[in-house]
Amino acid sequence: MAARRAAKGGRGRTRGLRLELGGALAPPLDARAGVAREELAEPLAALGGLLPALLAKDAPSGFVRVLRRGALYRALAASIARWRRRRVDDLVHIGIGGSALGAEVLFRALAHPLHNTLAPRRRSGPRVHFVDNVDPERLGALLESVDPRRALVHVVSKSGSTVETAAGWQVVRGAFERRARGLRWRDHAVFTAGRGALRELGLREGIEVLEFPEDVGGRFSVLTASGLFTPGLAGVDVAGVVSGARAWLARVAARPVSENPALVSAASIQRLAEKGRGIHVMMPYADALEPLARWYVQLAAESLGKLRNGEGVGVTPLPARGTTDQHSQVQLFVEGPADKLVTFVAVEETRPLPIPGGEPAPYLDGIDLGMLLRAEQQGTAVALARAGRPSTTWVLPALAPAPLGALLLALELQVAAQATLLGVDAYDQPGVEAGKIAAFALLGRAGYEAEATRIAAATPPRWTL
Ligand code: PA5
Repeated sequence: MAARRAAKGGRGRTRGLRLELGGALAPPLDARAGVAREELAEPLAALGGLLPALLAKDAPSGFVRVLRRGALYRALAASIARWRRRRVDDLVHIGIGGSALGAEVLFRALAHPLHNTLAPRRRSGPRVHFVDNVDPERLGALLESVDPRRALVHVVSKSGSTVETAAGWQVVRGAFERRARGLRWRDHAVFTAGRGALRELGLREGIEVLEFPEDVGGRFSVLTASGLFTPGLAGVDVAGVVSGARAWLARVAARPVSENPALVSAASIQRLAEKGRGIHVMMPYADALEPLARWYVQLAAESLGKLRNGEGVGVTPLPARGTTDQHSQVQLFVEGPADKLVTFVAVEETRPLPIPGGEPAPYLDGIDLGMLLRAEQQGTAVALARAGRPSTTWVLPALAPAPLGALLLALELQVAAQATLLGVDAYDQPGVEAGKIAAFALLGRAGYEAEATRIAAATPPRWTL
């Protein structure tokens, strides 16, 4: 029974988001594998000014301050309410990177797990489809299955100039217009856009344009219309997500840095990276949190992988999912190169689903499936610790809007803090530009002739088998 209680993870003790760092502490880990509390003093001191700076008028990014913009959230709620009164069967979300992943995280974490397959009366909103790639097979098939007259397209792009998003929109638009003559786009599209071509197009055509705050970058935009409109229309309690983030912010802003889990997490990750643990695994134990791992990977990779004085720095994020990846990557984490920190995301309170007794596993009699999931997560943490490998765990009391909002903000703040410690700019992404420019040149886009000439002149080495 004690083991079963342990597997429940002290359910009910704390209702908020919490971070368990014991699995990364030295001792019991040896000094190179873990962090001693004293080692965090220096990085935490360096982070003392971060939250006040993010709350200041001239903040380097608006991802924290945006939570204080009541009017922005009221306008968003009104828009969601308006569209929910209309008949929409299919919502097609077009965007990429930070303009898609946040919405997918919230939709998958908080909507019914089988939302899209439920009958309309049992669904909390339209079916939701994410178009975040230019794959003709998938998009072509999607277009065949959606009735344009009962569809809404949500196009999200801060710059308004991302080629994948532009192509997705133009393909969807063309297909809808062929199948439904006279379609009025103001009844079938909403744009979330910053200044640029997409916003201008929307305004010109009378399409509703939601604000993409100028001071919030794509990967930090989950708590704006970019991440909230789509799940909100699908019936997710996005106001609850925002309240959870605000409540967490109020709590950590009133406490010293040493009690701010996001900052302590950042300091620990960076200390461990200095000791050779430069790969950071994000491993939620819930199918509904699978997109969270991808969202986190994008947030950390694009914010932290930078050139610092000509030298490439960063921590490499790696997604995994429990328990599935226990039968895949965990062998590598426990016995492979000692270069990883594993961060679990565990959910305490899950849907009750008892396992009946029987063969071939009679010992499971009376155990709840959620308890098994939690025991496997804790078992993996034990295996890592025994092998001298560090781990940390974010614990959500339940898969609910408020703790998820808190976790998303905490991870954003953690990554911003890591950038401070690394001495890089979390909010730019110069490395993404080179590939974009080469692709434009290869497509023959006007203005990119010089790049096209450079590409043609360079004879790449060939090795074809
Ligand atoms: O985080 C980022 O800044 C990027 O991943 C962007 O979200 C992505 O490139 C899409 O950009 P945009 O919103 O301008 O279309």
